[in-house]
Amino acid sequence: MTGWRGEPLTMRNHGETRGRVLAACNEALHAAALAQLSPPEGSSAGCVIKPHLQRLTPYLPPLDGRSANQHLLLDFNERTVPPPPHVTSAITAHVASGTTQQYPQYGDINERIAAYAGVPPSQCMFTNGSDQGIDLIVRCCCPGGTEAIVPAPTFAMYEQAAGAEDLVIKRPWFTREAGFPTAEVLAAVSPATSLIVLSNPNNPTGTAIPTADMVTIAEAAPHAAVLVDECYYEFMPPGSSMAAEVGRLRNLFVTRTFSKTWGLPSLRIGYILSAEENINALCCVRGPYDINQLAVVALRAALDDPQYVSDFVAEHNNKARPALEDFLAEAGVAFWPSAANYVFCYFPDPTATEKALRAEGILVRPKKDASGTLGLRVSIGTLAQTERLIATLRRFL
Ligand SMILES: Cc1ncc(COP(=O)(O)O)c(C=O)c1O
Repeated sequence: MTGWRGEPLTMRNHGETRGRVLAACNEALHAAALAQLSPPEGSSAGCVIKPHLQRLTPYLPPLDGRSANQHLLLDFNERTVPPPPHVTSAITAHVASGTTQQYPQYGDINERIAAYAGVPPSQCMFTNGSDQGIDLIVRCCCPGGTEAIVPAPTFAMYEQAAGAEDLVIKRPWFTREAGFPTAEVLAAVSPATSLIVLSNPNNPTGTAIPTADMVTIAEAAPHAAVLVDECYYEFMPPGSSMAAEVGRLRNLFVTRTFSKTWGLPSLRIGYILSAEENINALCCVRGPYDINQLAVVALRAALDDPQYVSDFVAEHNNKARPALEDFLAEAGVAFWPSAANYVFCYFPDPTATEKALRAEGILVRPKKDASGTLGLRVSIGTLAQTERLIATLRRFL
């Protein structure tokens, strides 16, 4: 008698290959056993990583070779000037204090962030950037195999977090004409929905989502986590935030960051606002030292004197973004209305424009919209930087 691969069967390998021998006795069973034994599509035999994770590909932002000394960095929606000396000197003073061998101590930083956000500290937790906030929310709220509604095109980390939990992703489309697809999102809600992402304003399109629509969606899907990403909150007009609703809507999670207007992306600190019971649960999943001490030191100094943030936002909102939008309109370049510090625009030849700007030391980011059309997402900095961008573009268009 032989085993299913035809090798002679001894009592010893019979013991080791029981299931296979049994399956060989019956064709249907054999086929079923083979299906069980063969690795799922895209995964490799013998790999201990969960099969659905083996199919994922990492999000690798094109960061290499960027240098603020050589380039005008308009490709990552960052603050385009460094934070002021009172923030940077707090970091160097901490390093010089000779305490980096100690684990971080957070003191009252959560209370200070909560006060800034206008919620009680029990409705707030700080995170390692909003990326960690997104990941925590999906890990804590979304069982594998359930559905995530992630309007597209959008920020890559939502799909990464959803993919890591093996969620089925539904993608209604943002459009330049209609903006956020409220009706499509509502229509996509099902009993299996465990996550709805509301990126407000959306990256890369800059689209603002009306507060009333977000409330309607959160109320229509009380069984799903509604993740409102307010990464660019400081640029938004007053009344755009969902922070005031976190005490009332138990399924609402607002993520925010100190990466953008505050100028601290390299230090990694953000926060989540949500109902107290949600914050308590997420804190059980976050590690006790996930946020590094330098981030907290810098943030404390920034919160002591945050005028530099409002100055940057005022210059951007009142001067720089209008200047770029006026130029694009005048040059006949279509663009999405933006509520953030970037504009997604359709140059006649985006690849050539990106290359030409790069040759002039200006970096911007090629991105596709939901229909696959290539555009450029151009971040906006100070008025002087925007005028340099416009003067450069004038030469190509
Ligand atoms: C919409 C959106 N959410 C979150 C993030 C990540 O922010 P953080 O640096 O806080 O992780 C970004 C970064 O570009 C973003 O555009």
